[in-house]
Order: sequence, then C-alpha cells, then structure tokens
Amino acid sequence: MSVRHLYVHVPFCAHRCGYCDFVTVVGRSAQHAAYVDAILRELELESDLLAERLETVYLGGGTPTFTEPAQLGRLLASLPPAVEVTVEANPETVTPAVAELLREAGVTRVSLGAQSFQPRLLDVLERAAQPDAVRRGFYHLRDAGFDNISLDLIYGIPGQSPSDLDRDLAEAIALSPEHLSCYELEAKPGTRFTHAHGPELLQQAEAIEGYFEQVVETLTSAGYRWYETANFCRGGRRSRHNLAYWLGRDYLGLGIGAVSTVAGGRWRNAPRLAAYLAALAEGRRPPRELEALDAETRRRERLMLGLRLDEPVPVRAVAGVVDGVAFDRLQDLGLVERRGAGLVLTERGRFLGGGVTADLLREVELETPAKN
Ligand SMILES: C[S@@+](CC[C@H](N)C(=O)[O-])C[C@H]1O[C@@H](n2cnc3c(N)ncnc32)[C@H](O)[C@@H]1O
Ligand code: SF4
Repeated sequence: MSVRHLYVHVPFCAHRCGYCDFVTVVGRSAQHAAYVDAILRELELESDLLAERLETVYLGGGTPTFTEPAQLGRLLASLPPAVEVTVEANPETVTPAVAELLREAGVTRVSLGAQSFQPRLLDVLERAAQPDAVRRGFYHLRDAGFDNISLDLIYGIPGQSPSDLDRDLAEAIALSPEHLSCYELEAKPGTRFTHAHGPELLQQAEAIEGYFEQVVETLTSAGYRWYETANFCRGGRRSRHNLAYWLGRDYLGLGIGAVSTVAGGRWRNAPRLAAYLAALAEGRRPPRELEALDAETRRRERLMLGLRLDEPVPVRAVAGVVDGVAFDRLQDLGLVERRGAGLVLTERGRFLGGGVTADLLREVELETPAKN
C-alpha cells in the first residue's frame, strides 16, 4: 500500500467555542497519555497501508497544542516523518516553550486559529484568545524559527461589518503569514450558538457573497495566491496536506472521528472517546462506519473538490460525470473553461463556487424499483 498522507485527530480543548462543530473533548488531561497510546496502537494496526515515505502529516483538532506537552512531544516523536508536518494551534496555547517543542519535534508548519482581531467578535465566538494573544502566539512561532505559518479567519460573524472584516484582513496581512484560510461562518441549525444569534446570522447570510469578494480582493491585492476557494498563500506555500484531499489522493486518519479514504473504501472512526480508548487498549480497531466508494462516486468527488482549486481538473479524471450540455451553457456564461486537457472555473465561476459545480455534475439516474 502506498498512502502518503496521514491525519491525526487530537480532540482536546480547554473549552468549547459556541460555533464549533468539530469532534472535541473538553479538558481530560488525565486521559491525554491514554489517547496518545491509543493513536500509536491504531497507527501500528494500519501501518501496512502507509508508504515508506510520507509526504504530509497533519495534527488537527480540537486543540493539539492544548495536549499535555509531554504527551504531544511523545506523539510527534512517534509519528513517521514527512516532508510537511502541520500542527493546528490555538494562539493562547503557544508559549515560547510550546513553539520550541513543535520545532524540535520536526513540525514544519503551524496553522494558528486567529478567527478575528476584534475583541467583541472574539467574544461572540467565545474565543479564549484576544488579539494580543494571537499576535504573541504568532511571534513565538516566528522566534522559534517557523517560516510556514497559516492564520485562520472567519467571516460572517454576528455583529461583523464590512469595515470589521477590512480591519481583520489588514491585521492578518500585517503579520505577514505565508498562508491564510478564510472561512465563512457555518452555524448548525439547532445549536446553542444559532439560537443565541439567529436574526444576526440571517443578516450575515445576505451579506456573505460581498464578504467573500472582499476577502479575495484584499488578499490577492496583498500578493496572496487564491489557490483554493477558502485558501491563500504566498511564495508557493500551499497546504500540501489539504491539497491531497482536493486532488482526491488517499489518506489515513487516526483518532476519534477521523476519516480515512484508501483504495476505494472510506471509514470514519466513531467520535466517542471512551469506545476508542477501550478498543485500542485491547488491541482492536475502534468502532467505525464503513463506506464502499465506487469509481463514479470518486470521480464526482474529484470534480467537486478539484474545481475548488485554481488549477485544472484533468478531463480524464472526471470522465462520465460532467454534464456536457451544462458545461457548454456554463462556458457560454463565462463560468467554466477548458484549459489544456482540463476543466477549471473562471474567476466569476469561482465566486459562485459550489452552485456551478453542482450544475456541472451529470444527474445520477435513479434506479427504478423492479416491478413484481
Ligand atoms: C478544526 S478547527 C481547530 C482549530 C483550533 N482549535 C482553533 O479553534 O483555532 C480549524 C478551523 O476551522 C474553522 N472553523 C471551526 N468551526 C467553524 C465554523 N463553524 N464555521 C467556519 N469555520 C470554522 C476555524 O477557522 C478553525 O481555526
Ligand atoms: S478551540 Fe477550536 S476545536 Fe476547540 S472548540 Fe474552539 S474552535 Fe472548536
């Protein structure tokens, strides 16, 4: 087997931010060591799937940098080396000692969750880090020698105005990160956060296209390449790990809630800490949901994810899933084009994003139930 991309989910956080829908576990420092043991057991069980040399390792969360430092160090030291090793970090957890620990453990890239630089918006998001902490965390990483730092921002926050967003972008650019991820706030219906900010969220939804254009225009004017719908980089510093997802490569995911896609199959570990620890303590694989991926599904995913990029999706990789009539119509509208042997969205098409891609996908013929 030759999987070259490894994701490790580290779910622990100091507290739960109201808008967050990721698989997280608050506190539990007494279980951090057991979790690292379990991850390493799962890695051992799946090690046959991995290539001899990995291209990327990504520790996501949760808040990996909230993990007990000794356990985080042990985990990083035990994972296979890779060309790009990314760790997600929350600003308030990045002390000089943690920055040093990451650097010495071979981490090459840190993704720092800033979200905003406005104190009142950070409060709405229930973030622990105020703007000064974001800047401090960033400089601790620079001081430790990191030359590949990404900042996450969120837009569409209740109470945010276009000038707030301008200020956030200016503050982020002033730090000169190599990479920026700018996400539209997603608020799940039925959550405490959505309940608390319902009318504000509706207002923001109407303004969201304008925010997206503001983000793209500001960052591209500042010299960032808009290489993926929500991602921007300078100096060729794309996220190699996330590129692997967008290019439809196989990846192995370890930890609770982690997804793996390998050789035409996909599985998702159950998002339950106790069940995960118990299974791996006995040397068993954790409870999982399995899904077989047929060639057509993979090609459809390849198109949906590949069109998020600014480089063409090879036509041969999506053979049979593009609706030719829709393609001609969208091409006439200036939303999609052929480039070499591939398809790519135009700038206008990229602003419309998912809607154009959905139109391009050939409708799947539903099987008619057999008559008796
Ligand atoms: C998996 S989270 C973990 C990062 C880290 N714990 C933090 O909070 O900074 C990675 C990124 O996803 C984004 N994110 C999380 N929840 C989101 C939501 N509901 N809508 C949009 N972006 C979200 C944030 O920008 C966050 O930095
Ligand atoms: S710190 Fe990050 S992962 Fe944890 S709850 Fe907040 S947004 Fe979610």
